[in-house]
Amino acid sequence: MNILVTGANGQIGMTLRKLSEGEKDHYIFSDISQVGNYDTLYLDVTNADALSIVCESEMVDLIINCASTPDVAAAEDDHVMADLVNREGTANVAKIAARCNIPVIHISTGYVFNGESCTPAREDLSPAPWGVFGVTKFAGEVAIRASKCRYMILRTGWLFSPYGRNPLTDLIKFSSMHRSVKVPYDRVGTPTSTFTLCRFILDVIHSGDLSLFGQADRDFTGIYNISDEGVGSWYDFCHSAIALYGLPVEVVPGLWEESHLKERSPLYSVLDKSKIKKDFSLTLPHWRDSLAECVKLMKNEDPGKEH
Ligand SMILES: NC(=O)c1ccc[n+]([C@@H]2O[C@H](COP(=O)([O-])OP(=O)(O)OC[C@H]3O[C@@H](n4cnc5c(N)ncnc54)[C@H](OP(=O)(O)O)[C@@H]3O)[C@@H](O)[C@H]2O)c1
Repeated sequence: MNILVTGANGQIGMTLRKLSEGEKDHYIFSDISQVGNYDTLYLDVTNADALSIVCESEMVDLIINCASTPDVAAAEDDHVMADLVNREGTANVAKIAARCNIPVIHISTGYVFNGESCTPAREDLSPAPWGVFGVTKFAGEVAIRASKCRYMILRTGWLFSPYGRNPLTDLIKFSSMHRSVKVPYDRVGTPTSTFTLCRFILDVIHSGDLSLFGQADRDFTGIYNISDEGVGSWYDFCHSAIALYGLPVEVVPGLWEESHLKERSPLYSVLDKSKIKKDFSLTLPHWRDSLAECVKLMKNEDPGKEH
């Protein structure tokens, strides 16, 4: 199978590169940026013609759409770019997928919900997107469903990995310059390893089963929440990471306003994962175990990309 990964030099794409080593499927890793010596096809998802050419010339059988603006803060800073990549870029992927009958696994966000209900959000909860990032990512979901391509939309959040910029790599960098860091305890979510997400994606690929993919706007088939198990605040996450990594920095609990974080997140960002666990007989790891695995990996090898 020929599998096109867009945004492949981000942290999900880098994890897919690692986990797909030795696989029999042919992966085409594409992005607009180049990282180290990683083989990368230049492909901008906002360029519909280029996408079309790649899908046809490479005889693509599956698209994993990871292309995105980086985070909430970046989307707030540049609404136009966020709309262009997260909505229009995704719509381009969806249209070509529908025309060429290529199934799509699209990565979306738990920020399609604003967390105000303070209960884990199910897939069928009416979206109330959070900020420009949530609005533009939700618009991408709408475009996928409207296109009538075969799709699996995976909503996730609070991702960490050894790659690129994320709360874990930021903390490690911060600890080399500061003795103490104030981190919010008033934002709760589920930190999630990109390895959990990518292992699931590879399991779906290996199964070759599209029966749980969606193909229209009618219901919630094809939309799945996925994260690690458990909940925690950013303070809990950093506290665990410092202990596991042995970082020479003290972590102090504070309110979001007192922290250095520019990115405002919902107070409660927890996804209900009953559907994915039932449909795929899936067991998900606790985020603390995933964090321990990630730290071990980082200590044993050079993870590569720095954004
Ligand atoms: N990180 C999280 O906590 C989180 C939470 C919820 C959902 N997600 C979603 O998960 C997916 C992957 O996230 P991630 O953390 O791996 O993101 P990431 O590290 O920011 O990776 C996204 C990649 O897409 C690239 N990109 C940007 N514009 C593009 C374009 N026009 N065409 C092709 N590629 C483009 C980026 O390149 P540059 O670096 O050069 O911009 C980057 O390499 C995204 O859809 C994201 O919205 C992430």
